[in-house]
Amino acid sequence: MDALEAIMTTRAIRRFTDEPVAEDDLWTCLRAAQQAPSGGNVQPTRYLVVTDPDVRAEVGKLYRSAFTRYAEMAPERTDAVGLRIGRSANHLADTLGSVPVIVFFLMPRLPSLVEGIDIGPVHASVYPAVQNFCLAARALGLGTTLTTVIRVHQGEALELLGVPEKWEIAAMVPLGHPAEKFSVAVRRDVSKLTSFNRWS
Ligand SMILES: Cc1cc2nc3c(=O)[nH]c(=O)nc-3n(C[C@H](O)[C@H](O)[C@H](O)COP(=O)(O)O)c2cc1C
Repeated sequence: MDALEAIMTTRAIRRFTDEPVAEDDLWTCLRAAQQAPSGGNVQPTRYLVVTDPDVRAEVGKLYRSAFTRYAEMAPERTDAVGLRIGRSANHLADTLGSVPVIVFFLMPRLPSLVEGIDIGPVHASVYPAVQNFCLAARALGLGTTLTTVIRVHQGEALELLGVPEKWEIAAMVPLGHPAEKFSVAVRRDVSKLTSFNRWS
């Protein structure tokens, strides 16, 4: 698939079929993720792939609870886009435990200040990997959504997965065959968000 087409049609897929993900495809996505840039090429990301149905079910319960907590305090959106995202996100919260693959992107708990100098957040060296993963998945016809709301129950999630204290969750990405269509998402007009040479 053409790279630009993959970029333009990669969007949040939250409805999946039961079809398993081929192991080769999973590794292709992971290799694409690992190919992403990171500050000083330190490659801080660790990938924890959950395929076991019992563990997925437990992650699904934590995610449902985390999403409910989030939805209770998030500002209510009544516009058409907000309602669509709400329905779709709620569906993922109801079904996450049965999505074939759930990938945790873990990052070390490090300060963004080194010797008092701001060198940028650790996240900045992890999200390129997450997006590469999602783009590779799209090229293979697989769906993903970058999610972070599991952090509401981060402690429980890390304990469930046996992750040492030193790590935290940058993102959690469900991966599977989509039960909805890929399309080009409507976004704000970039020409109205861009200035040249001087802020305007
Ligand atoms: C940093 C970040 C965190 C997100 N967290 C969640 C999440 O916890 N749950 C969820 O269902 N979607 C989550 N999303 C997905 C966004 O809702 C989605 O990317 C956005 O609505 C655009 O969707 P579209 O590309 O289909 O238009 C997150 C996206 C980003 C970039």
